[in-house]
Amino acid sequence: MATELASPPAAAVEVYPPPERVQKGAAVTSMEQYREMYERSLKDPEGFWGELMERFHWRKKWDSGENFHKWNFDTSKGPIHCSWFNGAETSMCYNCLDLAVQAGNGDRICYIWEGNDPGQERNVTYKQMLDMVCQIGSYLRSQGVGKGDEVAIYMPMIPELPATMLACSRIGAIFSVVFAGFSAESLAGRLSDPYPKVLFTCSAVRRGPKPIMLKKIVNDALNILAEQDAGDKVYELPPPDARNELLVPHVVVFDHEAATGIKREDLPDGWVEGRDVWWQDVILGQPTECDVTWCEAEHPLFKLYTSGSTGKPKGVVHTTAGFMCMAATTCQFVFDLKPEDIFWCTADIGWITGHTYVAFGPLLNGCTQILFEGIPTFPHDGRCLLPCLPSSREQVTVFYTAPTAIRTLMARGDSHVTRFKRTSIRILGTVGEPINPEAWRWYHDIVGNGEAAVVDTWWQTETGAHMITPLPGATPTKAGAATFPFFGVEPALLDFQGNEIQGVGEGYLVMKRPWPALARTLAGDHPRYEQTYFGHYKGYYFTGDGARRDEDGYYWISGRVDDVINVSGHRLGTAEVENALVGHHLCAEAAVVPLDHPVKGQCIYAFVTLMEGMDYPPDELVRKQLVEQVRKAIGPIATPDVIHWAPSLPKTRSGKIMRRVLRKIASNKLGDLGDTSTLADPSVIDVLVSLRGK
Ligand code: PRX
Repeated sequence: MATELASPPAAAVEVYPPPERVQKGAAVTSMEQYREMYERSLKDPEGFWGELMERFHWRKKWDSGENFHKWNFDTSKGPIHCSWFNGAETSMCYNCLDLAVQAGNGDRICYIWEGNDPGQERNVTYKQMLDMVCQIGSYLRSQGVGKGDEVAIYMPMIPELPATMLACSRIGAIFSVVFAGFSAESLAGRLSDPYPKVLFTCSAVRRGPKPIMLKKIVNDALNILAEQDAGDKVYELPPPDARNELLVPHVVVFDHEAATGIKREDLPDGWVEGRDVWWQDVILGQPTECDVTWCEAEHPLFKLYTSGSTGKPKGVVHTTAGFMCMAATTCQFVFDLKPEDIFWCTADIGWITGHTYVAFGPLLNGCTQILFEGIPTFPHDGRCLLPCLPSSREQVTVFYTAPTAIRTLMARGDSHVTRFKRTSIRILGTVGEPINPEAWRWYHDIVGNGEAAVVDTWWQTETGAHMITPLPGATPTKAGAATFPFFGVEPALLDFQGNEIQGVGEGYLVMKRPWPALARTLAGDHPRYEQTYFGHYKGYYFTGDGARRDEDGYYWISGRVDDVINVSGHRLGTAEVENALVGHHLCAEAAVVPLDHPVKGQCIYAFVTLMEGMDYPPDELVRKQLVEQVRKAIGPIATPDVIHWAPSLPKTRSGKIMRRVLRKIASNKLGDLGDTSTLADPSVIDVLVSLRGK
C-alpha cells in the first residue's frame, strides 16, 4: 500500500537542447513532431502501432477495428485485462533473426561478447545466432518441449543466454530467466508456477577473480524443491530406462571451461545421470534448422520474477506481440538504433532491462551489441566504461547504464574517462533509479563530452519497455528529469485521495490506459496482479512510484512509495530481506527500510530484534551471521549495509510497525520524527536512538 511521498530533487533550471549531431538523422527531430505522433498514438492506436509494426513479419495480420485492442482497468467492471494486436500471429525469434538473415545481414555481428577476463572475445553474427537458436530449439523439441511449456534459464552473460531465450520463443515455449547472482533459495523460489520442463545453466562463472559454481547452486535449488515435496514431483529422478518415454526435465549445463578455466572435474559433486546433460553434448549436434511455431499475439513470451512489497516475488508475465512492439519501437525512437549502431546496455539479462534491451529490442532493429560478462571493477576500476575496451569497441554509439554505475565512475575521477576517445557516442541512456542532477551532468559533460543526448528512461519490469523518457533528437532535457511520456503512454499524478493533479504538482504516478507492453498478469496469481496494480486507485495502473510534474510538464521521478527498496537499480522487497533475517535462529523480528546512499542510490538498513535474553549490542559475530544469512537467502545484492539493534520496534497499538519513524531514525533525522502519539510505547524510540551506530 502506498505510504508517503519522498521529496523529488529540486528542478534544475538549465535546459539542454538536443545536440545537433544527434538530431540529424534521428527518428523524431522536434517537439512538434513528438506531440503530433504522441496525440495520434492515443487517438488512433491501431493506425499508429499498426504502421510501425508493418516492418515485421506477421503470419496472420491483426483484426482491424474494435478487436485490435481491448481492455479494462476498473475492477468494478470485471476482471482486469488488456490485449493488443488481437487476431494476429507472429514470432519474436523470426523477427529478431530470420528477418535480418533474409535481408542479407546474416554476416553482421549480433553480439560482441567480452568475457570476465580482458582479451576474451567472441563475435557472433546474426546467422550464427540463428543457427545456434535453431539447434537449441531442435533440442527442446526433441525433449517434448513445445508451445506453452515452461523453460527456466540460470545463466551468465554469454551469447548462449539470449540464444536460449530466442529458441524458446521460436517454439512457443515460455522462458523464465533467473539472474545468475541469486542464491539457491531464491532460485528455488522462482522455479514454480509451474515447474519448468528444462532448466538451462552453466558449469561455473567468474565474477572478477571469484569463481561462482552455478551448477552447484542449481543442485542446491533442486534439492530444496525436492525437500519441499514439490507436488507433482517434477524433479524426481525416474528410472534410467523410462527416461525417454517420460521426457523428464533436464538440466542442460553449458561447459564454460574455455573462459573460466574451471574444469568439469573441479566442479562440486552433484551430477545426476538422467537429469543433467552437457550443452556441448546435446545441443551442438542438433540441426541448424528449426521450424517456427507461430504464436498468437497474446501468447505469453516470458515470465520474469521481481520483488514486490510482500516476501514472495512476483512472476510478471509478458506477451508476444505487445512486448515485441514496444521493445522494437523504444529502441527505434529512444535509442535511435539503426543497423550500423553499436549498442551497449550494461544490464544483466537476468533483469528486465537485459530482456528488453539486450535480448530482443536491439535485434529487432538489426544492430550490433556488446555483451559483457565481467564486472566494472575487474581487473581495474572503470573497466565497464567503453573507452577501456579494446579498440573495436571504442565505436560504441549508444550506451545504456544505471545511475549507480555512473556515480561509481564519477567518484573515480574524470581522467578514467577523458583519456579515452568518446567521439562515437551519440546517446547515453540511464535507467533503474532516479539520477541525481550532479551525476546526470557528469554523464552529459564528461562521458558524452557535451555532445551526446542523455536519455533518462523511467520504466519497470511490469511496463516491459520505456514509459517516460526523452527522445534524443527532439526533447530538450533537464538534468534529472525523465521528461515526457513515450507514445501510447498516458500518465497522471494522483493525490492521497486519488484525485488527479492537474498542472504542476507532486503525487503518485499512475497510468490511465494500457500500452502494448504492459504485463498481462502475475504467474498463477491474477488476483494479486489486480490488487497490486489496480487495487489502489480504481481505473488506474498504480506504478508504486512518486513523481512531480513541473511548470513545463516535465516528469521528475522521486522513487518508490511502497515497501520496495531500489539498491543500485535493483528492486528488493523489504519483506524479502526481513524474511531472510528472521530465518536466522537468533533473530526474533526485523524491519527493513531504505537509506539514501551516495553511490547505490539506496541501501538496506535493517532494524533487528534478537531472541529473548540476548544482550544489546550482541557479539559482533551475530551481525556478521545475519548479513551472511541474507546473502545466502537472496544473494549478494541484498546485503544489508546497516544492522541497527532494536530491543523493540516502534509499533502502533494495533501492532503495525511505524516504518516512517524507522526511516527517520535510519537517516538520523531525529528532530523530524513526525507524529509518534499513536505508538503503543513511545519509549522505544529513545532506546533505538541510543543504539544507533552500536
Ligand atoms: O522506482 C522506479 C525505478 O525502478 C523501478 C522499477 O524497477 P524494475 O522493475 O526492477 O525495473 C528497473 C529497470 C526498468 C521503478 O518503479 N526506476 C526505473 N527507472 C527509473 C527509476 N526511477 C527513476 N528514474 C528512472 N529512470
